[in-house]
Amino acid sequence: MPLKSIALVVIKINDLTMKTGVFYSFSSGKTQSVAERLVKEFGDNVEVNDIEVIGGDKFLEYDFIIIGVSTWFGGGLPDAWEDFLPEFKETSFNNKKVAIFGLGNQQGYPENFGDAISYLVELLEPKGAKIIGFTSTEGYEFDASRSIRDSKFMGLLIDEESQPELTVGRIKNWVKQIKTEAV
Ligand SMILES: Cc1cc2nc3c(=O)[nH]c(=O)nc-3n(C[C@H](O)[C@H](O)[C@H](O)COP(=O)(O)O)c2cc1C
Repeated sequence: MPLKSIALVVIKINDLTMKTGVFYSFSSGKTQSVAERLVKEFGDNVEVNDIEVIGGDKFLEYDFIIIGVSTWFGGGLPDAWEDFLPEFKETSFNNKKVAIFGLGNQQGYPENFGDAISYLVELLEPKGAKIIGFTSTEGYEFDASRSIRDSKFMGLLIDEESQPELTVGRIKNWVKQIKTEAV
C-alpha cells in the first residue's frame, strides 16, 4: 500500500473513535437551535451537555469539545456561563482540542460583536486547551470584537438577528473544518 493511503486510513479511524462533547446552556434559545443543527451536521459520536446541570469534570470524558456561547450585556457572558466559570477551576484541558461557536448581533452590538468567545479562549488556553476552528471575518459588518486573533474569529460566529440566512451554510462549512482540525 502506498504511504499516502496508509495516512488516510489512520485519519478515518481517529475520526470514528474520537469522543465529542457539545456544551451549552439548554435555556439559551438561539444557541440551542444552532447547537442542534450543528449536532445534526456532525453525525455520530456526539453527546450534548447542558452546562446548567453538569460539573467541570464532565469535560474530561471527551477527546474533542465544542462549546456554544452567546454574547450578552454589551460584551459579556450570559448568566449561565458566568455561574459555570468556577467549575473550570479544577479542570485540566491538556491534550484537548476545543472549538467554540458564538452567537451575537453585529448590527445591534457592533462594538462588542461576539465578545464572549474570547473570554472562554482566555480561560481555557492557560489550562492546556488547543483552540481550533478559527474563521474568516469576511462577510460580517461590525466595528470591534474581542474575539479576533490574527485577523480571524477564534471560532464560528453566528448572527441570527442580522444574517439568519447564512447560518446553515456557516455551520456546514465549520463542521467540515473542525472535523479535519480535530484529528
Ligand atoms: C441584552 C442583550 C445584550 C446583548 N449584547 C450583545 C453583545 O454585546 N454583543 C453581541 O454580539 N450580541 C449581543 N446580544 C445579542 C445576542 O448575543 C443574540 O441575540 C444571540 O442570538 C442570543 O442567543 P441566546 O438566545 O442563545 O442567548 C445581546 C442581546 C441582548 C438581548
